[in-house]
Amino acid sequence: MDKQFAEDVRKGLSAEPKYLHSKYFYNENGDRLFQKIMELDEYYLTNSEYDIFENQKSELLEYFSPDGRRFDLIELGAGDGYKTIVLISYFLQKQAEFTYIPVDISRNVLKKLSNTLTGNFPSLEIHPVNDEYFHALEELNKVDFDRKVILFLGSNIGNFREDQAILFLSHLAADMTHDDRLLIGFDLKKDPDIILNAYNDREGVTRDFNLNLLTRINEELDGDFDLTLFKHYPTYNPQTGETVSYLVSMKDQHVRIGALDEIFHFNEWEPVFMEVSQKYSLPDIERLAVNSGFSIEMNFFDKREFFTDSLWVLK
Ligand code: AVI
Repeated sequence: MDKQFAEDVRKGLSAEPKYLHSKYFYNENGDRLFQKIMELDEYYLTNSEYDIFENQKSELLEYFSPDGRRFDLIELGAGDGYKTIVLISYFLQKQAEFTYIPVDISRNVLKKLSNTLTGNFPSLEIHPVNDEYFHALEELNKVDFDRKVILFLGSNIGNFREDQAILFLSHLAADMTHDDRLLIGFDLKKDPDIILNAYNDREGVTRDFNLNLLTRINEELDGDFDLTLFKHYPTYNPQTGETVSYLVSMKDQHVRIGALDEIFHFNEWEPVFMEVSQKYSLPDIERLAVNSGFSIEMNFFDKREFFTDSLWVLK
C-alpha cells in the first residue's frame, strides 16, 4: 500500500469541503483513459498543440537554438510523446544537435516511449529519466552543461492552482541559466461551451477517468465506494477561467476505507472536488511569467487560437 496515497485520501475525505488529488488519476487504467480522452473530438487541447508543432517546427527550432548550439530537449511528463515526435523528427532531419531527455515518474510510460523512438529514429540520442521533475533537473545540472530547452506541454500547468503554479515555475527557474529556455503549453480562454464539452464528453470517458480514482481507492485501500452513487459534474467559470470537476454523492451514504480503518459520511448531493484545469488569457500568462521570474520571448498559436505554447527565458 502507498502510505502517501492513503494519507492524502484520509485528509481529503475528512476535509470540508471534501477533495481528492488529481495526481492520483494516473494509475495504469487512468493512463489508458487519459489516452482515450486525448483522442476525443471534444478534447481539442492535444490536437491544438499538435497543430502548433506541425506548423511552426522550424520557428521553434530557431528559438530553441538561434546559434545552432547543441541542446538538451528535456520533456517533463513526456507521456506517449505523440506531439513531441513531430519536433524530434524535424530536428533530426535538420541535423540539429540535441539529446532528448524525457522525464516521467511512470517507468511503464517511459519504456514504451523509448522503444517507439529508438525504433523509429535510430540516430536519436535519448536519455530517459525515471524520476521526479526537480530531482531529475538537479542531477542533470551536476553532469551536463549543454543549453537546456525544457518542455512542459499539454496545459499540465493548468492542473495547479495559481500559487502552486508560481511555486513550481520559480523552482524550475532556480534550476535554469539565462541561456536556457522553457516552453509551456497553456489552454486559452474561449467559448465556454467548447471548454465545458472538453470535460463532459458524450461517451463519458472523462466521467470514467474521474470515477477511476474511486476504483483505485477500492482496489488499493480496500474501499467500498459504489461508483453508481457518484455523478461526474464538470463546471467552467468564464470569469476566473477555472474548469473544476466534482464527483457528487447522489444520496446520503457511508463509505468504509479498510486500509484507513475509517468510515466517511457523504450527505446527499455533497460534492468532492476532483480537479482544476485552469484556462488562461494572454495577460494571465504574462502575470504568471513575471511572478515566477521569467519573461516571454514568443507565443506560438494554433490556427483556431485555442491554445498557446509560450516560450520563456529567465528575466
Ligand atoms: C493532464 N491535464 C492537462 C488534463 C486537463 O485537461 O486538465 C487532465 C484531464 N482531466 C480531464 N480531462 C483531461
